[in-house]
Amino acid sequence: MDTHISTSSASRSLFLLSFLFILSYLSSPTLSTSERCHPDDKRALLRIKEALNIPDHLASWNVSTDCCYWDYVGCHTETNRIYQLLIYDTSIHGPIPPSVGDLPYLETLVFSDINNLTGPIPYSITKLQNLKMLRIIWTPLSGRIPDLISQLKNLEYLDLSRNQFSGSIPASLANLRKLTGLQLEGNKLSGSIPDSFGRFKDNLYVFVLSQNMLSGKIPKSLGQLDCESIDLSHNKLVGDAKMLFRENSSVKGLDLSRNRLDFDLSNVKFPKNLTFLDLSYNRIRGSIPQQVTELDLWRMDFSYNRLCGRIPVGGKVQQFGYETFTHNLCLCGTPLPECK
Ligand SMILES: *[C@@H]1O[C@H](CO)[C@@H](O)[C@H](O)[C@H]1NC(C)=O
Ligand SMILES: *[C@@H]1O[C@H](CO)[C@@H](O)[C@H](O)[C@H]1NC(C)=O
Ligand SMILES: *[C@@H]1O[C@H](CO)[C@@H](O)[C@H](O)[C@H]1NC(C)=O
Ligand SMILES: *[C@@H]1O[C@H](CO)[C@@H](O)[C@H](O)[C@H]1NC(C)=O
Repeated sequence: MDTHISTSSASRSLFLLSFLFILSYLSSPTLSTSERCHPDDKRALLRIKEALNIPDHLASWNVSTDCCYWDYVGCHTETNRIYQLLIYDTSIHGPIPPSVGDLPYLETLVFSDINNLTGPIPYSITKLQNLKMLRIIWTPLSGRIPDLISQLKNLEYLDLSRNQFSGSIPASLANLRKLTGLQLEGNKLSGSIPDSFGRFKDNLYVFVLSQNMLSGKIPKSLGQLDCESIDLSHNKLVGDAKMLFRENSSVKGLDLSRNRLDFDLSNVKFPKNLTFLDLSYNRIRGSIPQQVTELDLWRMDFSYNRLCGRIPVGGKVQQFGYETFTHNLCLCGTPLPECK
């Protein structure tokens, strides 16, 4: 797909503007009929610009030019419909304009790094039934994550990280059957992880809920996930996490650090493809399974737990320093002092 997206420097925009100016000057009388841009899309984009208080970075969005060549939009080469909208400008203040719902061909919608964006997420986004990627990050949006997101049935990636969302995670997000990535890290989410998330099964590749205030037990159903990257770190999760350790699961990165997990590690089978394992700052008991020596880990951390016994010898294990094992109940052997 050959598409026109430019998120470039001011000079590039300036160049584009003057180029478009010359173009419109040369072909003024026929411009409106020769435009690629669909008039409905143009109307919606101009309403969005107005609702965002005409920010400087949308200077290229001028009624007399073709919206397929505006900055921060992607215009499909075949349909000539706007399928991508990226908004990031610290000068914007106010809510997400409801007019975003009037771009029916939108596949990617991004609002990022906007210090003064206000809520709520407008109901009109449910009209975006072609949306595949919704990313609203580094904004002060607060309140509950709205259930209405689960109506975006074609969503493949949902990233609402680094906002101020609070309350519990809507269980209905599990209705997004095509989701391959879910990132909700760095909010103020509380309550437990929805049991329904087991339904993501092997679709999900990225699952990040870290740096929230999630509590309670990890649902057993999450044992059905076949996810490459799972990050539940920096929460208040308690109890067992053994369901996340299956020898044949495709997990490569597993970060459960800084929770209150309390389970016996002794008989756990590490996923064979694990390369990143952080279990630090929990209340994990038992000993470290010998199988850890078979893993090709580039990072591991067992520190600040209640582990005991001899550190397995072999593989990459002894390449890690004492920090990897420190502050446990009675772990011993290299790189810690010899067992008594
Ligand atoms: C749009 O561009 C025209 C020239 O092509 C310019 O005269 C006009 O001021 C611009 N409008 C806005 C709102 O920037
Ligand atoms: C953002 O909000 C803060 C506090 O409400 C205000 O001081 C600041 O001027 C706002 N910034 C912009 C770009 O509107
Ligand atoms: C994991 O896969 C191997 C090889 O495909 C198989 O022999 C083994 O039974 C599987 N283990 C589990 C627990 O499914
Ligand atoms: C482990 O990684 C290899 C190589 O990338 C891949 O072929 C294999 O399917 C993976 N195993 C699992 C259980 O995902």
